Amino acid sequence: MTRRDGDTWDITEGVGRTALGVATARAWETASERPLFTDPYAQLFLDATGDQGLELSPERRRSITDYAAARTKWFDDFFLSASAAGVSQVVILAAGLDTRAWRLPWLSDSVIYEVDQPKVLSFKTSVLDTSDAQLSAKYMPVPVDLRDDWPHALRAAGFDHNEPTAWSAEGLLPYLSAAAQDRLFEQIGLYSARGSRIAVEAFSPAFFEPENVARYRERSGAPHELWYMEERTDVAAWLCAHRWDVTSIDAVDLMSRYHRAPASDDDPPALSMFVEGRLL
Ligand SMILES: C[S@@+](CC[C@H](N)C(=O)[O-])C[C@H]1O[C@@H](n2cnc3c(N)ncnc32)[C@H](O)[C@@H]1O
Repeated sequence: MTRRDGDTWDITEGVGRTALGVATARAWETASERPLFTDPYAQLFLDATGDQGLELSPERRRSITDYAAARTKWFDDFFLSASAAGVSQVVILAAGLDTRAWRLPWLSDSVIYEVDQPKVLSFKTSVLDTSDAQLSAKYMPVPVDLRDDWPHALRAAGFDHNEPTAWSAEGLLPYLSAAAQDRLFEQIGLYSARGSRIAVEAFSPAFFEPENVARYRERSGAPHELWYMEERTDVAAWLCAHRWDVTSIDAVDLMSRYHRAPASDDDPPALSMFVEGRLL
């Protein structure tokens, strides 16, 4: 699949399939001996599509799972901390098959908006509706493309820009062009009340260099022609310049924090940073 403006996808196609890839890693982690989190629904999505996952060596599978596990845990902790601080409006951008709305113990008055492409969200809710998954918060799917007027769709679903929001962008930015990424953050800024929080998986310029993409493709077999290979705005710097108080941790340090450090220096994770911001 070559990327173009306005392209769309189902869960088994192009960018949609990447959500299944992450669900696969979460299913592997859940079935492991000492999981960092459990996602009892991840396997349901794989069963529903008959997805067999990629043929990978045990080392490669371990390294993909470790990265996805550390990332999932970091975003889980972000939402739990925002919730503990009383932020009850949540927007998960590019939610894919993330099941935090069902897995985490939310404040009872929380409202969780999930934004993603229509077919991805309808696949997800159709699978969860036929499972025993229970929500402890109000759930609002917002089926819209993040390159379109998604704030309009979010407001139509009940989002209140006067309330602080906990936003997340996990596994999203490489699938947006540099210009679309800039627009996304401008819109987030516009719709964030004081006290809002944000968690972003961001990528260093080296991530988008052809050499890294080739290495990544060779190791994971994943379809990285889906990424927009462009120089782009540094997310942490942008947030700092727009009144967000920012902290960040690099992927290797995060994985080490969770005792999931990469096995060797030859096998670094995706040159990513985990950036958290709080709007002053
Ligand atoms: C790698 S998956 C990550 C999903 C989820 N955040 C997770 O970590 O499990 C990428 C997701 O981004 C969504 N996505 C990418 N570009 C998008 C766009 N322009 N509009 C809406 N969703 C988009 C895809 O549909 C897919 O669900």
